[in-house]
Amino acid sequence: MTKASRGRDHGDLILRLRGISKQFGAITALEDIELDVHAGEVVALVGDNGAGKSTLVKTLAGVHQPTAGSIQYLGKPVTLDTPGKALEMGIATVFQDLSLCENLDVVANLFLGHELNPWRLNEVQMEVRAWTLLQELAARIPSVREPIASLSGGQRQTVAIARSLLLDPHIIMLDEPTAALGVAQTAEVLNLIERVRDRGHGVILISHNMEDVRAVADRIVVLRLGRNNGVFTPDNTHEELVAAITGATENSVSRRTARILETQGG
Ligand SMILES: Nc1ncnc2c1ncn2[C@@H]1O[C@H](COP(=O)(O)OP(=O)(O)O)[C@@H](O)[C@H]1O
Ligand SMILES: [Mg+2]
Repeated sequence: MTKASRGRDHGDLILRLRGISKQFGAITALEDIELDVHAGEVVALVGDNGAGKSTLVKTLAGVHQPTAGSIQYLGKPVTLDTPGKALEMGIATVFQDLSLCENLDVVANLFLGHELNPWRLNEVQMEVRAWTLLQELAARIPSVREPIASLSGGQRQTVAIARSLLLDPHIIMLDEPTAALGVAQTAEVLNLIERVRDRGHGVILISHNMEDVRAVADRIVVLRLGRNNGVFTPDNTHEELVAAITGATENSVSRRTARILETQGG
């Protein structure tokens, strides 16, 4: 079932995080994080190494429990105790390692782990479902009977994303989906992300690549040292984004303040 057939309008608020903090012993990985995700939008999560991106995604994936704060999902407060619960509720994650089986074909990989679902299908039905989904996503996979081992990096990413869509999640989180890809394959995956967005899913995209982020994101949320450090759009300049990521803004403000104080002090 597509999002549209569920009667939900694009733009509905799906996920609202407020005051989310995460401590690992003495380390504060996240502090007072705020994040909203709507249906049919791509929210990019960017920040330097150690900014807290992975910790935030793992918190939403049910891998980590926040130390403080609240998660509202479809208008209700929720606890995401386990990865299984997050997935069941409709929060899907494509981790960077993709977790695909090299020796199995596309169909087998798409349905891997879904064996216990009530809608479990037979081989022919699975093949048809796989083919239909990939067609819908305009994915460039020559055959669904191709083993993963013979696919390109972009095609693997496509299979992993398609797999996460089978349970029709409200939110799909992608961790560095273009990190290992060349130019053409990156373009393919970015197109796919747009199609996923257009189906009405809320997409959280983690990426180091500002060009990719600016190409597909509706909003760009910057994390720095575990805290929010601004929300941007692709209309903001590259320099503005980089300044928020690196903290150069803070430096230039304090430098400016210092200069004013200097002037005033004579
Ligand atoms: N399991 C963990 N135990 C202890 N510290 C962690 C753990 N996971 C992440 N951290 C720390 O939390 C901070 C944020 O890390 P992370 O979320 O991986 O950032 P990013 O993904 O943006 O690079 C870092 O200081 C990191 O060392
Ligand atoms: Mg990370």
